[in-house]
Amino acid sequence: MSKPAIPVFDLDSPIEPGDILAACGEVGCFNIRGGSITPQKTQALLAQMDAFFSLADDDPEKQACHRDRNHGANGWTPSMEEPAYEANTIAWVESFDCVLANERLAQVPEHLRCGVRPSIWPRIGGFRDTVRDHWDAMIETAAAVFPLISQILGQESGFLASKASSQVLNTMRLLNYPPNPAPADGVNQGISAHTDFECITLIHQTAPGLEVKSPQGNWIRAPVEAGQWTVLIGEMVEHWSNGQVRATPHRVPPTAWPRKSIVMFLAADPGVQVGPLAAFVDNDHPPGYATVTQDKVIREAMARAEANRAAMADKIASLKRQISPG
Ligand SMILES: [Fe+2]
Repeated sequence: MSKPAIPVFDLDSPIEPGDILAACGEVGCFNIRGGSITPQKTQALLAQMDAFFSLADDDPEKQACHRDRNHGANGWTPSMEEPAYEANTIAWVESFDCVLANERLAQVPEHLRCGVRPSIWPRIGGFRDTVRDHWDAMIETAAAVFPLISQILGQESGFLASKASSQVLNTMRLLNYPPNPAPADGVNQGISAHTDFECITLIHQTAPGLEVKSPQGNWIRAPVEAGQWTVLIGEMVEHWSNGQVRATPHRVPPTAWPRKSIVMFLAADPGVQVGPLAAFVDNDHPPGYATVTQDKVIREAMARAEANRAAMADKIASLKRQISPG
């Protein structure tokens, strides 16, 4: 039997929440097109990503926004230095990460900033403005998806917007996967299997590689289509639904071809308590999830991933020497 395809919904036409719920049950996620993220905006962003990622790793512009050299500020993470979601794995991906615009982040009271560090930008003409423009388009598109997620949670259409609109804990990731010449031995990954910590994730890829796991346990390749975005369900939705709508496991196995992806994590607001909603709890379905906050979930998961990376430090150094013996 062939694996089911990921259904595509057009944001510029009416969408039945029941169809979204069915997609989540069958393949674990869904795709969207239309809305505010035009293919032209994405093409402009991909061109800027090319300009940044084609710089040598020792280029001053990359080094100036190196995450580890700026105490964890958002910026550049070199290949193989990505925190590893699964123990004993190495991620062959470099990234540029950014958060809410620095001037807006500075206006957030410190106790609601949850330790989020500002973004550090490379001095590449148009880079910052293009990324910020795409961020805004992704926020607008997410706002069009939020009512659908609210409805599959049995809530009024404004529910998710009321819980997840501050953008303080959102992260946008620009990912560059170089061709992976390392042996496909289970250690070397694009990104190892995991679920995302937030409410939903929007993700677009330029070449095959992303795989999602259906609730039935099938790994399904996400399509590569200009203007299409995969919507992954995040862990907060799983908590709210008491496990009825599951977070989407996904991974990127090693690929012999280059690829890029653009990702936005849409997070619950600082301080929002996320636990099973009354609509999903009864005598037959007692609460199966703790009530948590988004910032605590992210902080604890990233600490585990950082520990996994630290445990692989010697192996990473050895691999880097093999690739660049000089
Ligand atoms: Fe992810």
